[in-house]
Amino acid sequence: MNRSLAIEFSRVTEVAALAGFAWLGRGDKNSADDAAVKAMRYMLNLVHMDAEVVIGEGEIDQAPMLYIGERVGSGMGELVSIAVDPIDGTRMTAMGQTNAISVLAAGGKNTFLKAPDMYMEKMVVGPEAKGIIDLNLPLEQNLRRVASKLGKLLSDLTVTILDKPRHKDVIDKMHQLGVRVFTIPDGDIAASVLCCLPEAEIDMVYGIGGAPEGVIAAAAIRALGGDMQSCLLPRNVVKGETPENNALAAEEIRRCEEMGVQVNTVLQLEQLVRDDNLVFAATGITNGDLLKGIHRKGNLATTETLLIRGKSRTIRRIQSTHYLDRKDTALSRLIGA
Ligand code: FBP
Repeated sequence: MNRSLAIEFSRVTEVAALAGFAWLGRGDKNSADDAAVKAMRYMLNLVHMDAEVVIGEGEIDQAPMLYIGERVGSGMGELVSIAVDPIDGTRMTAMGQTNAISVLAAGGKNTFLKAPDMYMEKMVVGPEAKGIIDLNLPLEQNLRRVASKLGKLLSDLTVTILDKPRHKDVIDKMHQLGVRVFTIPDGDIAASVLCCLPEAEIDMVYGIGGAPEGVIAAAAIRALGGDMQSCLLPRNVVKGETPENNALAAEEIRRCEEMGVQVNTVLQLEQLVRDDNLVFAATGITNGDLLKGIHRKGNLATTETLLIRGKSRTIRRIQSTHYLDRKDTALSRLIGA
């Protein structure tokens, strides 16, 4: 993919983050998400490219904007696939909590796995532990393999996991093994990226989260030389057997068949993201370990964006100052002063 597009994608996540930030701490995660979605779509449509959303806000009948299959961009220029999450951490944005980001990944046609919005088991490690994880093996064996590869004791290993009731037994097990566990309320994309950065203090990210977030994280993991294995899980496997969950699970399995992707089967990183000629852009909404959050004072707002190019493995951190009161700009139109 042409590298001149990279900077364009950083503008997209910056504006989406600023739009979501306008709803910070208002207790309304849907409005925060709507604002970020609208802003992200507006900015994507300004980019000179012929793009398709492959991971988005949902199916065409569920999402009015950035639905799977929507065409975005000017409609001219390079063919691009886009995987978006206008806010990863909608609840954190609504509650004024840390670690919310606006994020997207872009690559050539067919770069990303097409998967429905369902659950995914994920195991992520950084470049130094690449090639040794195997989701078909028990977690304990994987932890031991990673520790040995990194030359660490299990008690020196740090694993990040979403703090969800479904992970209670796994967290207990890791504590019994002496592993240090960091739990996060939401936002497993940021954690996965952090795990693969050169300065990482996390050795593994593990657990069940969203499949769309999994594919987007995989783009950064591949770009950074890390490793990931994953497995699509039907809702009743994750949330328990109820008539409602069983019906949703049947629909997820039907969609997977339509898309040609298997459930309950281990997927390698290279199946999630097929090419490293890609761009990953993420802008912090609230302060987090990966990115600083937005700081706004009157009409001035500052953002921090992580921009990674897979081909060259360049990692850029872009600090921007935005004047929200400039007339006739995308920002004034979308956010206003
Ligand atoms: P949203 O902000 O898009 O709701 O996602 C937050 C998130 O924590 C993801 O990072 C994670 O993959 C997923 O939700 C986990 O799903 P659930 O909240 O259903 O356990």
